[in-house]
Amino acid sequence: MRVLIVSAQELFRQTVQAACLRFGESMISLRTTDSLGQGLELAEQFQAELVALDLTRNVEAGMLALAQLAAHPSRLVVASIDKASTDVMARAVRAGAREFLAQPVQDDEVHAVLRKGLRLVTPAGVEAPPARRGRILVVFSSKGGVGKTTLACNITVRLAQRLGEGRVAMIDANTQAPNVAPMLDLRPERWLRDAVEQYRRLDGDMLRQMMTPHDSGALVLAHSSDNPLGLDFEEDQLGKILLVAKSHFDHVVVDTFPVLSSLNLAVMDLADDILLVTEPVVPALRSARYNLQVLRQAGYGPERIRLVVNRFSRFSGNVPIDLVADTLEWPVEAVLNYDVNATIAANNGRPVVDMFPESLIARDIGQLVDTLVGASPAGPGPRAGLGDRIRRFLRGY
Ligand SMILES: Nc1ncnc2c1ncn2[C@@H]1O[C@H](COP(=O)(O)OP(=O)(O)OP(=O)(O)O)[C@@H](O)[C@H]1O
Ligand SMILES: [Mg+2]
Repeated sequence: MRVLIVSAQELFRQTVQAACLRFGESMISLRTTDSLGQGLELAEQFQAELVALDLTRNVEAGMLALAQLAAHPSRLVVASIDKASTDVMARAVRAGAREFLAQPVQDDEVHAVLRKGLRLVTPAGVEAPPARRGRILVVFSSKGGVGKTTLACNITVRLAQRLGEGRVAMIDANTQAPNVAPMLDLRPERWLRDAVEQYRRLDGDMLRQMMTPHDSGALVLAHSSDNPLGLDFEEDQLGKILLVAKSHFDHVVVDTFPVLSSLNLAVMDLADDILLVTEPVVPALRSARYNLQVLRQAGYGPERIRLVVNRFSRFSGNVPIDLVADTLEWPVEAVLNYDVNATIAANNGRPVVDMFPESLIARDIGQLVDTLVGASPAGPGPRAGLGDRIRRFLRGY
């Protein structure tokens, strides 16, 4: 039997994993993931027959994931909930959960559920995977002004130019200072707040109706800069919107507000790729170092967090890239050069990849998109050639 464990909690993953190992590899083959988004993808790739899905972190998005996982007729979805919350339990049953594991999970209960799974799984196993799943790319930094929106908009446009109309979505999840609509010169009639208001009954068609088309072929769910604070976002609401987008588009690019909030962490929890944007200047690098520390604690590794150094230029006294990688102890996925065309394009409400396709920055972004689409993992970053003085600055806190 193919078992998939989806949980952000290490203890949950370990307990279920230990119970699986008691059956031996010939009986149970196993995959684990800490993210709901990746869980949906893995379930199809791996053709999981039993999914142990932890619903404690992100209930609304978890319910949606549960419904998608349970739509497969021969798959047993086991939902795990915090306490005997009858409301959550009833919703999980309606969404398709057939078994429950109360938390903290007990080894013998997991064992019993697995035995049941083994009895239920037919010898023929599950059928071929159905619909495609998109990838969620979150562009993040807790430092303001490092180029997140520039990058998110240009990646979106570049992807849409490659893939064609209606296959790439962008969501402006910058809850406090949204900037995507002006940067792409869009005049939306409907906004993120409309999707949030309707989030319980949101589906792919509704979401598309709320999005604004960009000339590139991308669809954008913009956030209004008029009174952006007038709306209280909850993690479940944004999570649900992202998961609906993920199951209707090939790529979903998300711009964020620069803060390490629980909202942003919930958004990143759903991401397949997190682009952590920084600059080769000391304050930005210190912030990136802190972000990496927190994200690492959340269990994310280099296959998920891709470090992008923006506004790079070569001059004496600037921090070289090898020192960035060394100091942050993280591989550098991409380096984007400083290029005034980025600002000129932004002032014209046009993506630089469209307005100045031959510019340095457009070429750098193109290369980054190639890497993302090829989904090749980040290689080890260069680690030689250290400047003691700059290193002292970076580490001296
Ligand atoms: N590689 C680059 N070269 C030159 N200018 C750049 C580059 N990348 C971004 N910029 C410029 O830097 C400014 C800030 O960029 P942007 O708005 O994308 O940052 P941000 O991280 O989204 O900011 P915020 O945190 O406020 O949302 C913009 O004027 C943009 O044109
Ligand atoms: Mg921004």
